[in-house]
Amino acid sequence: MVLNARILGTGSYLPEKMVSNTDLSKIVDTDDEWIFSRSGIRNRHIAAESQTTSDMALQAAIKALEAAEVQPASLGGIIVATTTPDLTFPSTAALVQAKLGIETTCLAFDIQAVCSGFVYALATANGFFKAGADKPFLVIGAEKMSSILNWDDRTTCVLFGDGAGAVVLGPTSDNSDGILSTHLHADGRYSEMLQTAGGPSSSGDVGHLTMQGREVFKFAVDAMSGAVKEALQANNLSADDIDWMVPHQANIRIIEATAKKLDMPMSRVVTTLENQGNTSAASIPLALDHAVRSQDIQRGQTLLLEAMGGGFTWGAALIRY
Ligand code: UT7
Repeated sequence: MVLNARILGTGSYLPEKMVSNTDLSKIVDTDDEWIFSRSGIRNRHIAAESQTTSDMALQAAIKALEAAEVQPASLGGIIVATTTPDLTFPSTAALVQAKLGIETTCLAFDIQAVCSGFVYALATANGFFKAGADKPFLVIGAEKMSSILNWDDRTTCVLFGDGAGAVVLGPTSDNSDGILSTHLHADGRYSEMLQTAGGPSSSGDVGHLTMQGREVFKFAVDAMSGAVKEALQANNLSADDIDWMVPHQANIRIIEATAKKLDMPMSRVVTTLENQGNTSAASIPLALDHAVRSQDIQRGQTLLLEAMGGGFTWGAALIRY
């Protein structure tokens, strides 16, 4: 019997400290009008200096486990999508496992696909269920983007934020429920358009984020609308059949342009970036948890998740919630 992964519960966490566009205008040559009109962002949460990605991931995980009514000890696996791990190794997932006090040997590893990381992680977890995994999996997107920003670069530092979101997945034998399909892509020829200039085996440090914003913008709209169309076709659905689109939260203009290409009204698109900024792999599970807890997303509804990020990587997941 082929199993699907079903979302049993969601959770999220945002650091206490909120930084506004006006706050940033005191650090770099920018203003609220430019940032909001170009990106749709007004505020972002920034982690405390001592707060790590695994600390934020843990808080989101605890909430998702509570919502799912799953005990940490009964987990079969933990997957963390992050590009800002606490350490080069071990994985952030292993650190979260220890912080949850799990003594059983559930598997734990990280996925690095930058802003597409959560969609990649969902696809990977779904593969475990299709291969017969019978215990719940915790899938987390968590980022401390503030740790890899160049705070002197106004073209990037105003766009990103920190946070974490999580889902608990469990197996279902109902093939019309849960993750119905995932569609992943990458094209490394574009790596220099969005990257950290540095890393352990090159510069010996983490490097800081650089981006050719205009080029990334154009690619993002085509890539995400393409992945969404692929997901719809694979399931014989049209955009009208989708209750909620839950996109990666990078720029409101990218989200609007993607929705327009699909004839999807913005009233059916979850947006959280105004007060969170771009939280990379955390942005989709943060948006998902927000819409679930505010009761916009209801059980039985059809969701389309889509993301694009460094690599380039991009993809979509079609889910019956
Ligand atoms: O999550 C991964 C995917 N990432 C994305 O999807 C991000 C994609 N890109 C974008 O969201 C947009 O391209 C940005 C928001 C980054 C930039 O918007 P834009 O409309 O493409 O602006 P631009 O880069 O073409 O810059 C326009 C002007 C430039 O000045 P000149 O050359 O026209 O004189 C920039 O120097 O705006 C200037 N500028 C700023 N001005 C005030 C750039 N950053 C700022 C700033 N404040 N923070």
